[in-house]
Amino acid sequence: MTNAKEQASGMVAGLDIGTSRIVAAVRSGESETVNAQLNAFVALPHSKMTESSLNRENIPHSAADGQIIVYGNESARMADLLGREIRRPMTRGVLNPQEPESLAQIEELIEAVLGPKGEGAAKVCFSVPAPPLGGDDNLTYHEATIRQILGELGYEDVRAVNEGVAVIYSELEDTNYTGIGVSCGGGLCNVAMAYMSVPVLSFSTAKGGDFIDASAAGVTGELVNRVRLAKEEAFHFNGHYADKVQQAISVYYDDMIQSVVQGLKEAFETTRNVPKFGRAVPLVLSGGGAMPRGFGERFEKAMQGAGLPVAISEVRLAKNPLETTARGALVSALSE
Ligand SMILES: Nc1ncnc2c1ncn2[C@@H]1O[C@H](COP(=O)(O)OP(=O)(O)OP(=O)(O)O)[C@@H](O)[C@H]1O
Ligand SMILES: [Mg+2]
Repeated sequence: MTNAKEQASGMVAGLDIGTSRIVAAVRSGESETVNAQLNAFVALPHSKMTESSLNRENIPHSAADGQIIVYGNESARMADLLGREIRRPMTRGVLNPQEPESLAQIEELIEAVLGPKGEGAAKVCFSVPAPPLGGDDNLTYHEATIRQILGELGYEDVRAVNEGVAVIYSELEDTNYTGIGVSCGGGLCNVAMAYMSVPVLSFSTAKGGDFIDASAAGVTGELVNRVRLAKEEAFHFNGHYADKVQQAISVYYDDMIQSVVQGLKEAFETTRNVPKFGRAVPLVLSGGGAMPRGFGERFEKAMQGAGLPVAISEVRLAKNPLETTARGALVSALSE
């Protein structure tokens, strides 16, 4: 246990290493800030002028081998202007083995969101996905590599927290960290259950926002990126869709929700020591996928239809769904 005085002197951070976005919640003294960057990059031909423009605008980038690599939020706009695809260091919740350069890129992005480490002790807790139900994906490589990167950046006190558990730490203080946390991300949906902050089960499902985008693009003939924008800017659950893309999005959204609800059911049925809570527990929805209007109601309806063996007191939406995991990781870092 670190005492309060020690904490106040150094930087403590919660880091959400997400497939779509990297988010840091940083506590320094009394102040807390949240920074996010798109977990993506694009390579441009090198020019002195471009480089100095990027410098002036404080846009994360690096120059090597006749190229400039632009990272994060600005990469999407640049790629769009140039008619190129953005490249992504991660896929389905973990580092993407198809992108060999991804380690250098992700290091830059982590540095950009964490900001200057400063002198003195610095502590970071980062999120990791849960394995899929019934399978064991190799999460070891991913977790060990992120640890290595943070070590190279000078962080000595580095820990990992399960993403669903981080959601519980961020949102369920009022039930003493008892309940279910769900994060609907780009690559995966992560689910965890805790009893008085002790994790009792967790799993991930492979259907996240990227699945919705790619599937809806497949059936409508639209570009994946267009579908993503149409989803983020205009999608909501309303029952009837005049627009073909919105209708396709709704189909795959329901598919994603069903995977999570059926996963919960299966997890309860196959986990031996599912605690007898003795009372109904809340379920929190977070992640970018939880943003569309009507998502909570839709999720609740699917849950009622499934007949879960655990009583749910309420389905609530996280206060800021895009920051929940990072904030929960910070709670975890501060508590040890
Ligand atoms: N306003 C919005 N409406 C609908 N979807 C959104 C919205 N904003 C973001 N998204 C979607 O949310 C997803 C990203 O969510 P989030 O940032 O929580 O994922 P992540 O943590 O990076 O991914 P993962 O946890 O799967 O590794 C993307 O699919 C994105 O399109
Ligand atoms: Mg996430």
